[in-house]
Amino acid sequence: MNQELLLQLFIDKPGEYVSGENISQELGVSRTAIWKHIRKLEAAGYQFEASRRLGYRLLSIPDMLSVVKLENQLQGNIFGQHIHYFETVESTQNLARAAAEEGALEGTLFVAEQQVKGRGRMGRGWISPRGKGIWMSMVLRPSVPIHFAPQLTLLTAVALCRSLKRLTGLPIGIKWPNDLLIEGKKISGILLESAAEDERLRYVIAGIGISVNLEEADYPAELLEKATSLRISGQQKWSREEVIADFLKEWEQLYFLYQEQGFSPIVTLWEALSVSLGKTVRLTTPQGELVGIPIGLEESGAIRIQLEDGSIKPVFSAEMGEPL
Ligand code: BTN
Repeated sequence: MNQELLLQLFIDKPGEYVSGENISQELGVSRTAIWKHIRKLEAAGYQFEASRRLGYRLLSIPDMLSVVKLENQLQGNIFGQHIHYFETVESTQNLARAAAEEGALEGTLFVAEQQVKGRGRMGRGWISPRGKGIWMSMVLRPSVPIHFAPQLTLLTAVALCRSLKRLTGLPIGIKWPNDLLIEGKKISGILLESAAEDERLRYVIAGIGISVNLEEADYPAELLEKATSLRISGQQKWSREEVIADFLKEWEQLYFLYQEQGFSPIVTLWEALSVSLGKTVRLTTPQGELVGIPIGLEESGAIRIQLEDGSIKPVFSAEMGEPL
């Protein structure tokens, strides 16, 4: 049976039930075949209501990202200059990395409706349900030494935070190094993976996950305490095309500012948006645990921690706990 013809029957009767008998007659198929196709459409993001007596009613169609709409809204020159769009992928990171190895240009972007093996930092997974968020990876080719890579992560967090705050008006802040939080709950994640040769970065794959229109039901119960979305916090849906376009513009501007003026303007912007400074926290570093007060960023991207004895220690990599 042609799935599109089945869908058309529902689209022609918005909000109404279409009986199984009616569908059988129109399309010349059995009730079982109809049920199977409805299940397939549900798996693709369409929502139906089923009634034993009345048949099926189409409740909603999936929210698909439009590349044409996105391209019309782009304002930069480099970021997003080539866009590759997919419905379902394992992880956009893998696609971007393979393309970078093949010579993809800086700013080449991979966006997916859904990731089935989304990756987070520290070997964690990343929940990426269909049509609800922004799951994307972009190829960067910065001409900086490899030890500058953490600066790019912080820069990306600053660009995303500034853009999302401007668009949504929500109270978004950055938790070191690069988590964006609303009232303590995470709304986005940034994962930079790089390839280097002779101390220079060959390319960086910047992976960005933004929980835009996820609803509470999209999260496993244990994550709801720690994670939220723009929709849950702002009580409205947002256009994913608009969010991507605005972020890419901000990100490209900061990236060029960084290439021209170095990291210090980014440090100032990061510190202004940070929710991590001035509160005593526990840090789990590869060398062990320490307790102290984050007081600022170093040029290297490390965070400066004031320890209980008053001394100051730069920390390069750690998991930062909640304020004590
Ligand atoms: C984090 O742990 O906070 C980072 C999460 C990064 C998720 C994004 S979604 C797009 C890209 N593809 C992935 O598999 N991960 C990143």
